[in-house]
Amino acid sequence: MRIVVTAGPTREHLDPVRFLSNPSTGRMGFAVARAAAARGHEVVLVAGPVALKTPPGVRRVDVVSAREMHKAALDAAKGADVFVATAAVADFRPETCAANKLKKGAMPTTLKLVRNRDILKDAPTRFKVGFAAETDHVLSHALKKCREKRLAFVVANDVTEAGSGFGVSTNRVVFVFPDGTTEPLPRMSKRRVAEAILSRIEKCLP
Ligand code: CTP
Repeated sequence: MRIVVTAGPTREHLDPVRFLSNPSTGRMGFAVARAAAARGHEVVLVAGPVALKTPPGVRRVDVVSAREMHKAALDAAKGADVFVATAAVADFRPETCAANKLKKGAMPTTLKLVRNRDILKDAPTRFKVGFAAETDHVLSHALKKCREKRLAFVVANDVTEAGSGFGVSTNRVVFVFPDGTTEPLPRMSKRRVAEAILSRIEKCLP
């Protein structure tokens, strides 16, 4: 199968040296890309700024901003069978980005932000898997995302829990399907979570 994976954070610059971002390390997405390539799938990994090596057999496209990720991921998605969105895409960007560094005396104290487009929602791929990093009402929020973005399933986790979410090597996730059924997984390494995601995709798309 042809699989597109998005991973890592995005950076939304307000000038060449300042940006809005988040603590995503990209580890979950790189683990999905590695596992998919090891199983013989053709993988394109669209990565935000992360300090990780490209997994063997994976074609990697590096991007910085959400807008760049949107374009690269949708280009890669043409003709793809599966789209797995693990990236922590910034939902907003500063309305303007200065060409030169803003001197602090000239910095505005409030920022006007505009919404970034939803890459996962816009991806034309038939079989889409999303992630939901939540702090409360994990299952109901994940189910809402699953239905709104027309996903095959959502990989949901509670990022307030120790050993889950940003910057750690393990994750405790639950798969949430559009009919409201759920499949909770025990806490395991991101590598094993990636294997579980791939096994589920292969079961749905033999
Ligand atoms: N996603 C995306 N493009 C965006 C935003 C999110 O592809 N611009 C994807 C993420 O990769 C993830 C899923 O959508 O798979 C997360 O859903 P989302 O509703 O964006 O989560 P939050 O940003 O946490 O939304 P909310 O603030 O509503 O909880």
